[in-house]
Amino acid sequence: MQAHTSRPIRCGPWAAVLVLAFAAGHARAQTPPELPAARPSGSRLFLDCAACHGADGSGVSDGSVPAIGGQPAAFVRSALDDFRAHRRDDIRMRHFSDPQHLADAAELDAVAAHVASLRRGMPATTGDGSQLDRGRSLFARHCAGCHGAGGAAAAQPPRPALAGQHAPYLERKMLDTRDMRSSQSRRHAALAGTLGEAGVSAVADWLSRQPPP
Ligand code: HEC
Ligand code: HEC
Repeated sequence: MQAHTSRPIRCGPWAAVLVLAFAAGHARAQTPPELPAARPSGSRLFLDCAACHGADGSGVSDGSVPAIGGQPAAFVRSALDDFRAHRRDDIRMRHFSDPQHLADAAELDAVAAHVASLRRGMPATTGDGSQLDRGRSLFARHCAGCHGAGGAAAAQPPRPALAGQHAPYLERKMLDTRDMRSSQSRRHAALAGTLGEAGVSAVADWLSRQPPP
C-alpha cells in the first residue's frame, strides 16, 4: 500500500523538471531571431482620437473639443506630454494620452505626425463678426510676435496655430488662463486681463476666420 502511494510522490518532481526543461528548450527553439520593432501606425492610433476630434481633426463645432488637424507635430507631441504628466489638466485627454493608449515615445510621435498631416476646412463656429477690425489689430499688437502673422503656428517653443480654430475654444482658453484654471503660460493671463472679455472675443472671432493650417 505504502509503495503505491509514495511512488508518484518520488517521481513527481522529476517528471515536472523534465517537462519544464523540455518546454524551455522547445520555447528557445521556437523564438524567432530579433526583428526590428514594427513602426507604430499613426492612423490606427488616431482612431481613438477621431471619436472626439473627428476624422479630419476639425474638433466639435461648439468649441468644446479643439480643432487639431494640421497643428505642428512638435506642438501636438508637447501637448500630449503635458496632459500625460498632468501639467495640463483635462480628464478626457489625461485618459487618452496615458500609456494604455499611447505606449511609448514612438507611438506618441506617430500619432502626432498623423495629426500634423490632416487637412481640415474652416471651423463651423466663428464669432458674430461685429469687431473684426479690432480683433485683427489687437492680434497684430499683442499676439503675432509669438503666434506668427495671421495666427500661423510657430516652431520654438512649439506654439499652436490659432488660425481657423473654433472661436469659443479660443475664448475659453484665454479666459481660463486669466482665471488660472489652466496651466498655460502666465503671460496669457496678463494679456487676457489687458484685452478684457470684449477684446478676447474680437481676437477669437478674427482668428476663427483665418485659413487653418
Ligand atoms: C473623449 C474625447 C477626446 C478624445 C478621445 C481625445 N481628445 Fe484630445 N482633446 C479633447 C478635449 C476636450 C481637449 C481640450 C482640452 C482643454 O480644454 O484643454 C483636447 C485637446 C487636445 C489637444 C490640445 C489642442 C490644443 O490646441 O491645445 C491635442 C493635441 C489633442 N487633444 C490630441 C488628441 C489625440 C492625439 C488623441 C488620441 C490619442 C485625443 N486628443 C483624443 C478631447 C478628446
Ligand atoms: C510670449 C509669447 C506669447 C504671446 C505674446 C502670446 N502667446 Fe498664446 N501661446 C504661447 C505659447 C508658447 C502657447 C502654447 C503653450 C502654452 O499653452 O502655454 C500659447 C497658446 C495659446 C492658446 C492656446 C491654444 C490651444 O490651441 O490650446 C491660445 C488661445 C493663445 N495662445 C492665444 C493668444 C492670444 C489671443 C494672444 C494675444 C492676446 C497670445 N496668445 C499671445 C505664447 C504666446
